Amino acid sequence: MKKKLVVLTGAGISAESGIKTFRDSDGLWEGHNVMDVATPEGWYKNPELVLDFYNQRRKQLKEVSPNSGHLILAELEKYFDVHIITQNVDDLHERAGSTNVLHLHGELLKVRSTQDMNYILDWNDDLFMTHLDKNGNQLRPHIVWFGEEVPALEEAIEIAEQADYFAVIGTSLQVYPAAGLISYTPANAPLFYIDPKPIKIANLRNKIEIIPEVASKGMEILKTKLIEIIDRTL
Ligand code: APR
Repeated sequence: MKKKLVVLTGAGISAESGIKTFRDSDGLWEGHNVMDVATPEGWYKNPELVLDFYNQRRKQLKEVSPNSGHLILAELEKYFDVHIITQNVDDLHERAGSTNVLHLHGELLKVRSTQDMNYILDWNDDLFMTHLDKNGNQLRPHIVWFGEEVPALEEAIEIAEQADYFAVIGTSLQVYPAAGLISYTPANAPLFYIDPKPIKIANLRNKIEIIPEVASKGMEILKTKLIEIIDRTL
């Protein structure tokens, strides 16, 4: 049976595809104050601005492609039972061919009812104030904003608890509960951490190997290491 490789990804894995990270740009997200476009308060204050912002992100997503970091992760399914837990709202893991992707912070290509968080639709085009659910309630981006519940958290914890190997790629680990998932990995599961500016992870029980590289190069290195491990244990 294949070993379970659990991977937590953040904005850094999509950086080489041309999508900006959050904290590398001074709290601004594509020129906007995060509080204006990624909080329920921002939505109540100016929903048109919020819709326009995510409409632009959706458009941008159609112009970018997965990079080799995403592609190598998909390729690793040949050797491992790979589970990706991503904080990203893009679909680049899926487009690279990964088949097991859990989105912790929602998805750009989905929208949901403002009144019923389980009323979710696939959405490829612009979303406007004229778009309503079947009961006449406004639709909004299917994005987990700051201060909102993370519905996929339970499932993410269960996945992390079953990891044989855990990899963290391109995340500043500043946002909880996502950052806390590492502490659910079994203590004997080796951890790999790819980031050109890795932070120090506190209170770690696991053996950690830091790969201080961008995702494409870091994933090449990780792939070689992981395949060596399987060859050794065969
Ligand atoms: N390859 C790998 N990592 C990179 C690259 C790259 N080419 N370029 C930058 N990074 C790293 C940065 O060093 C940083 O540690 O990616 C990380 C990006 O961190 P953030 O911008 O904080 O993104 P992320 O950790 O995904 O943010 C978490 O915050 O705003 C919210 O909901 C949003 O999901 C997001 C969450």
